[in-house]
Formats: sequence, structure tokens, C-alpha cells
Amino acid sequence: VDDLISDGVQGRYVLVRADFNVPLDGYTITDDGRIRAALPTITKLVGAGARVLVMAHLGRPKGGEPPGRDPLSTLTPVAGRLGQLIDDRVSLAEDVVGQSARDVAQDVKVGGVALLANVRCDPRETGTPAERDALATELAELVPGGAFVSDGFGVVHREQASVYEIARKLPAYGGDLVARETEVLRRLTGDPARPYVVILGGSKVSDKLAVLTNLLPKVDTLLVGGAMCFTFLAAQGYDVGGSKLESDQIDTCRDLLAKYADTLVLPSDVVAASEFSADADTRTVPADQIPAGWLGLDVGPATVAAFGSHLADAATVFWNGPMGVFEMAPFAAGTTGVAEAVASSSAFSVIGGGDSASAIRAAGLDEERFGHISTGGGASLEFLEGKELPGIAVLEEGP
Ligand code: 3PG
Repeated sequence: VDDLISDGVQGRYVLVRADFNVPLDGYTITDDGRIRAALPTITKLVGAGARVLVMAHLGRPKGGEPPGRDPLSTLTPVAGRLGQLIDDRVSLAEDVVGQSARDVAQDVKVGGVALLANVRCDPRETGTPAERDALATELAELVPGGAFVSDGFGVVHREQASVYEIARKLPAYGGDLVARETEVLRRLTGDPARPYVVILGGSKVSDKLAVLTNLLPKVDTLLVGGAMCFTFLAAQGYDVGGSKLESDQIDTCRDLLAKYADTLVLPSDVVAASEFSADADTRTVPADQIPAGWLGLDVGPATVAAFGSHLADAATVFWNGPMGVFEMAPFAAGTTGVAEAVASSSAFSVIGGGDSASAIRAAGLDEERFGHISTGGGASLEFLEGKELPGIAVLEEGP
């Protein structure tokens, strides 16, 4: 964004794509990390006298319903929080490119910030290439003579109008967050200091297969937790009771276990529950002794200790995905324990993803104890998979 600022932005429109896809409880933002991460770029532009119009999404509104008052799609809480953080009023348009958006854009003052409605409330945002192109044209028309800054790292893996096509309609620049995130992640894809230990959790093996197959040949140890570990445990021949299982992935997991026996590490114990509820009866059991009908909802203390000793020896760590259902107190200890072990390790550590980052903040761990907390979940995984991220590639195309 410094290049744009040195070109001069005083009084000029700058359309910024941010990732404000924050977790909400009703209208309350439970973790504002993604909003804070966008501040360096926004405050620089404000300081240089730009007229800043921000585009962001929240959730995945079905069929592009209008934002209305639905907390799942309206950016009202986000506009409020952003306004507090920059200590200025942030007006919020009621639509993406309609009359309200035009009015709000026209009213943004020099050194001011306004926000368009949730861009995904326009179905063209995620539509066909022709639809996305049409929306991008209308977005560009909101900011005559303006420039585009891509700073929503969490969404750069999406080929969507406000991320991708828009960069072909206006002079396009990368924001500070995108620059910092890509610089750090390149350290991991380049020549990371060893031992390089990766921790993967989260719910679905199928979502992580590409990253698993890409990372396994490159890392020294890959620790598996979260609901996805049960498909691996089943592949090892264990009865996982009523735990979440992706039966169609068992053969793939079995092949990976055979091929990477020295690299993959599975939990040795789990916290099992009688039902999926914070009030369930719970028992910590060896991973091959989950009672019939019970479900594993967290990794157990022996696993946390074993993962901890791998992490203590690591020189580079990447972590994506919680170890259990950390939103429920009885199943949070695995995630908190692993977070503590990563924080205590002297390794250069990168935390990828909204959930793992939220878990760290919820556990009250000082963010300074981690090398880098990425705002991108899917985006950081795709970066590590070695995929080209459309929202970054398009910036490199040039005018
Ligand atoms: C995220 O939450 O990872 C980003 O905001 C992208 O959201 P999406 O997965 O709905 O595209």
C-alpha cells in the first residue's frame, strides 16, 4: 500500500477488500482479531487523506439475501467495532452497489472510512465469471478515479468479484496484511528450519486431504487432532464409537498411515462424551477404547503431553484447526494445552486460521508468544498446499 500512498491518494477514492468474517454471538463480535488486522492499511490510507470505501463479507448468505437485520449477514456490528478502533464514525451502506452504496460512497470524507453492505448479499459476488465481472464493474463505478487495495488475506483464495475481478477494473495494490501474511507463509514453503512440525485439527479429513498429501513429504512430524483424527483412528482399525467419521476417507487415511508411518502422529487418548453436549458425561479413555455409542470430542492429556514433546523440539511449527470442540468447556483442554505447548516452544510458530487464532485469544495466551497468527484459515492452507491464490496472482498481473 506504500506504493499507492507514494503515488498520492489525498482526496482520492481507495476501495479496500478486507476480511471481516468475524465470529459472532448474536450481534456481539466474540473475536475482533480480523478487524484489528486490517487497521495498519486502513489507518495509513486515512492518514494519507484517502476516501476509503471498504468491502467485506460475513458468512455465506444463501442466494444473496439482502443484509436486513440478520446478525449472520449484516455488517452493523463490524462497522461499529471498526469505528471504535479508528475512533471515527464508519457509515454502512444498505446495499452493495445500489443507491445506498452510491450515497455512502459519495459522502465518504477525505480521511474517512465507509463500509459497503456484506458483498455476498449480491449473488453475483460468487456467481459466474460474467456475473462477477458485471458486479466488479459496478463496484469500480462507485469510486471514480479510485484505486483498489486487496487486504483481505483470509479471502484471497476465493475467485470472487470483490477479490479477483475488481483487481482488473482499477489500479490494484496489495495491503500491509496481505504483504505480511505472504512473507511469513513463504518462510514455511521455502526452506523452513527443522524439525518442522505441523499440527492439523478441525472437523473434516476431506477438507484437509490436499494439505495433508502436500505437507507430509515436506515435514518432519504431522500431529493429527480434532474430529478428523477419528477417521485416521478408524483406518488404524480402532472402533471409534459414535465419533465423527468420514467412512469414504478411511482407505485414503490407511494409505497415508502406511506411507508416512514415521511422520504421522495420532492421539493416544481422547475425551469421550455420552452425547454432543457441554453437560454430557465424559471419560478420558485410550484412543482404541471409546465406549460404544460415545463420541470423542477432544484429545486427552497423554496426547497433549506427547504432542508437547514434539513441539518442544521443533524449530518451525504450523498449526491449523482446534484439537476438540473447544467452544464447550469440557472439551477445550486439548486445544488449550496444544496452544500452550506451541507458545512455550522456541520454534518459529505460525497459527493458521480463524478458529485456532480465536482459541488462542480465548485461552488468554499472549499473542506475542507466537511467531505469526494468520487471519486466513482456508487461505493459509491453500498457500501451504502450493496452490496459486487468485486474489494474489491477479495483483501480480499488473495493469
Ligand atoms: C474465512 O473465514 O476463512 C474467510 O473469511 C473466507 O470465508 P469463506 O470460507 O466463506 O470463503
